[in-house]
Amino acid sequence: MGTLDGKVALVTGAARGLGRAYAKRLAGLGAKLAVADINLRSYEEFEAEAQDMTAASTVAEIEALGGSALGIEVDVRDHQAVEAMVARVVREWDRIDVLVANAGGGRGRPIDTKASTLDPTLLRLVTEMNLYGTVYTCNAAARVMKERRCGKIITVSSVAGTAPSADGGYAHYGAAKAAIAHYTRYLAQDLGPFGITVNCIAPGVIATGRIMATVIPGSSQSNRDRAELVALRRLGTVEDCAKVVEFLATDLSDYVTGAVIPIDGGLVRG
Ligand SMILES: NC(=O)c1ccc[n+]([C@@H]2O[C@H](COP(=O)([O-])OP(=O)(O)OC[C@H]3O[C@@H](n4cnc5c(N)ncnc54)[C@H](O)[C@@H]3O)[C@@H](O)[C@H]2O)c1
Repeated sequence: MGTLDGKVALVTGAARGLGRAYAKRLAGLGAKLAVADINLRSYEEFEAEAQDMTAASTVAEIEALGGSALGIEVDVRDHQAVEAMVARVVREWDRIDVLVANAGGGRGRPIDTKASTLDPTLLRLVTEMNLYGTVYTCNAAARVMKERRCGKIITVSSVAGTAPSADGGYAHYGAAKAAIAHYTRYLAQDLGPFGITVNCIAPGVIATGRIMATVIPGSSQSNRDRAELVALRRLGTVEDCAKVVEFLATDLSDYVTGAVIPIDGGLVRG
């Protein structure tokens, strides 16, 4: 018996990286998994992600382990498409118990995204991918959860949303992630009376294929071992984050809501 047997979970951005780890962990606990992504084979963009795959998609990986999964291609920036995604999950399984609004990320280089010189196109793109996508997804899922008067919502911020980079770069991403953390606090107040918990995770530097291939080589810290900035002296793994998602998705966290939980090994931003 898994702690999520009979439950339905929706994870966005689940084709690779952290979202894939969340989807697989929740499926391992017995949940039926809606795996949503703008590209269900996005792992092909990074060699390390592709090498980590044990089947052709996250959906196929879950099914190979005996779980139930539904793949949905969706751009979370598109409000109507997000509504259609949630309607599809409800048509298939009649409920949503857990939402992990994980889709998002940064675009552009830190050097080109300083707070005083932000390109409007990049600002719009990153705000839509992260903040708008999160709000659209939470709104659509909340409607379904309210009817059942229970549910667990997990949003995704970042250390970048808690403290600025030393040089003011990646400001668009930091601002969008800070907004997600604060939106989460409002959502927790709104949904608390319905028995729905809403919490946010704020990962530090997690060694996904994308981070290792793009962010670290291009960062202002590229000549320094990033692990030196972490109290635990190592970068995070996707499993480090998936364990916290398990806590927030199960009854272990029934009296936790409106929290923003760093998962950063004690990172000090340099
Ligand atoms: N990896 C880290 O160190 C780290 C740190 C802090 C926060 N985060 C956050 O965690 C989340 C996942 O990070 P990751 O490192 O696994 O990223 P990633 O880029 O490897 O994976 C993100 C996934 O989201 C999908 N996606 C992107 N835009 C989308 C859209 N508009 N609609 C639907 N799907 C979309 C991508 O196709 C991809 O599969 C992101 O929100 C990211 O900002 C990551």
